[in-house]
Amino acid sequence: MLNRNSDLDIKHNYSLEKLNTFGLDVASEFFYIVKSLKDLRNVLLENKRKKITVLGGGSNILFTKFLDGLCLKIDLKGIDIIEENKNNVVINVMAGENWHDFVQWSVNNGFGGIENLSLIPGLVGAAPIQNIGAYGVELKDVFISCNTVNIKDQTEKEFDEKSCLFGYRTSRFKTIDKNNYIITSIKIRLTKEKHKYNISYGPVKEEIGNRELNLESISNTVIKIRKSKLPDTKLLGNCGSFFKNPVINESKYIELKKKFPSISAFKVQKNQYKVSAAWLIEFLKYKGKSIGNVGVYKNQALVLVNLGGATGKEVLSLANKITSAVYSTFKINLQPEVEIL
Ligand code: EPU
Repeated sequence: MLNRNSDLDIKHNYSLEKLNTFGLDVASEFFYIVKSLKDLRNVLLENKRKKITVLGGGSNILFTKFLDGLCLKIDLKGIDIIEENKNNVVINVMAGENWHDFVQWSVNNGFGGIENLSLIPGLVGAAPIQNIGAYGVELKDVFISCNTVNIKDQTEKEFDEKSCLFGYRTSRFKTIDKNNYIITSIKIRLTKEKHKYNISYGPVKEEIGNRELNLESISNTVIKIRKSKLPDTKLLGNCGSFFKNPVINESKYIELKKKFPSISAFKVQKNQYKVSAAWLIEFLKYKGKSIGNVGVYKNQALVLVNLGGATGKEVLSLANKITSAVYSTFKINLQPEVEIL
């Protein structure tokens, strides 16, 4: 038998301050913690008319106003090895597991493929939404599929790697199927031996120096680099990179390179260059700058920070200032990487 709403522990006017890494004091009209798939189906069925917002670790979301409708905090747990051979393991991870704890679990078990993704904040279920990536590795490199529940009709559906339409910080769940599905678990393939270590990213190569290459040394190096560049969300509210690195075509790149010879950009494909948004922002002297309760982090210009007591609107207003300044100087439209609600 299905639960009625009265049996579900739905909170009213619930503060999300501790559930978003910007540390913004916003409330949700209704709030519910999902502990099982059955719970999830029930709560969706009983609240069909409400707007549903899914919250993972709250590490990629900017709340700018009171959240109408029902906010679901996904707390589905479990890590299972579902297939294993001499070279690989296939692991099913529930969406509510903490991403970094899962990476550490993999490294400690000698499973390779996600060590470069150490210390990325957030939960496993959010990882496919924006195809998380860092230091030359993206989730899609190890991804097999994810299980989902359809918000409208509660049916379950599995999407394989191809149908997730992964790109740089994007997927179908951020585009054509935005707000249609809730990711409940992911399946990934990791290596047991013959690990393919990726130290292509300059700072990782430099930092690791002559140390032996293994899963631990790479993970520890990535953790060290991230800690030096990105503020600890417990000490200074932030959401990691606020903007995506813009991709421009070759003629635009040549034009910019002429005007701004020190511009930081990397060729990603034929006729496509990814420009460092942090460089653009730093060039415009925003790095380390603060306006009221918000600022641009002193060690990484892509990171906006809550200096204490900020509102989402203040963060957004700083983001808009930066976007306009970047546009007027470089004629480049910066796109936010975080979800703005
Ligand atoms: N740079 C500056 N000023 C700065 C910081 C960086 O000019 O303040 C320039 C430098 O030229 C540097 C280059 O930007 O060499 C790249 O900087 P960094 O290694 O810090 O990487 P990023 O492009 O700024 C991206 C991701 C990060 C990820 C790192 C490492 C995006 C939007 N961000 O940042 O992801 O950790 O690469 O792979 O792609 C996140 O998504 O939240 C995130 C932190």
